[in-house]
Amino acid sequence: MTQTIAVLPGDGIGPEIIAQAVRVLDVFKQRGLDVDYQFAPLGGAAYDEYGAPYPEFTQNICRKADAVLLGAVGGPQYDNIERALRPERGLLAIRKDLNLFANLRPAILYPELANASTLKPEVVAGLNILIVRELTGDIYFAEPRGIGQLADGTREGVNTMRYHESEIRRIGHIAFQAAQKRNKKLCSVDKANVLETTELWKQIMIEISADYPEVELSHMYVDNAAMQLVKAPKQFDVMVTGNIFGDILSDEASMLTGSIGMLPSASLNETGKGMYEPSHGSAPDIAGQDKANPLATILSAAMMLRYSFNQDAFADEIEQAVQTVLKQGLRTADIYEEGCTLVGCTAMGDAVVAAL
Ligand code: NAI
Ligand code: MG
Repeated sequence: MTQTIAVLPGDGIGPEIIAQAVRVLDVFKQRGLDVDYQFAPLGGAAYDEYGAPYPEFTQNICRKADAVLLGAVGGPQYDNIERALRPERGLLAIRKDLNLFANLRPAILYPELANASTLKPEVVAGLNILIVRELTGDIYFAEPRGIGQLADGTREGVNTMRYHESEIRRIGHIAFQAAQKRNKKLCSVDKANVLETTELWKQIMIEISADYPEVELSHMYVDNAAMQLVKAPKQFDVMVTGNIFGDILSDEASMLTGSIGMLPSASLNETGKGMYEPSHGSAPDIAGQDKANPLATILSAAMMLRYSFNQDAFADEIEQAVQTVLKQGLRTADIYEEGCTLVGCTAMGDAVVAAL
């Protein structure tokens, strides 16, 4: 049966980078991948057309689709519209609507880009980490919360860290399955020595591990994990953690690679349906100039083939093609270094398609 990909180009460089990712997917369509695209606006583009950042037209397409491919949203022309209608609200709305509770963020440093990192090349060259972050629970959402006034007139801020075991279990399974597809090593990050919520987290991870005997499970306190990520990041393969720890650690890990234009992401729900998008924003400063790096979006499409369509071999091929073009010395401006060939967004897409 033909599967459907909802394609949401969004704003700024979104349409340019999405165009290149779609060309890459077309290569596999020609080889028999049975998918159709349905284009819909999100963010500012949707506000312009429908007066809302995640309109019903887009909702209907995304709810029915098997996967969603997103460019990026936002731009200065939307800064003065009312908060609830801003492009970024469209992003939060679609994540909530599709219940995308599992955020997968790889931090990969291709050996060819070892100089892009602020860390020494020998520490980071060949880095390939996947951080699995819980995205819809934890201290970001639980009640009670707020800033209250006490009887003596002083103020107090309150947030609540809470996870139900079912929430831990479902993200745990996603992480173990991802580890199974990679190097069968999973590190669960917690603060179980101090926080009961994360002590439960650790217990559940140990319980789930019985279902995945081939995966080696380890545990690390979050403060140590933050240190280890800059000290010896290559010791990690897959890391799984809650929403707040994952927010911080995934940003830390992504910066080890030093190149925002290279980082894909996936956000999945329980049915395996996912939304795939680059980690960067809409880059209004370079929009419409054919300067954007399309590789993060192309690598997001590879994640889509891997996680939503079970096409691991196709995903591997895309990742290898990206490495090939880097080996050829082709660089967009964001990853350019002396001695390489400066190319634009379309030419980078051309090169990836040629490498495939
Ligand atoms: P940004 O990620 O769009 O840009 C930061 C810097 O990185 C800029 O200099 C930009 O030119 C460069 N850059 C980003 N992606 C690039 C690529 N593919 N190739 C080459 N260079 C690239 O972040 P910024 O400037 O903070 O935000 C711009 C807009 O994007 C804002 O409206 C923001 O709200 C939105 N945004 C959207 C996100 C999303 O859709 N997921 C995520 C982050 C920001
Ligand atoms: Mg963050």
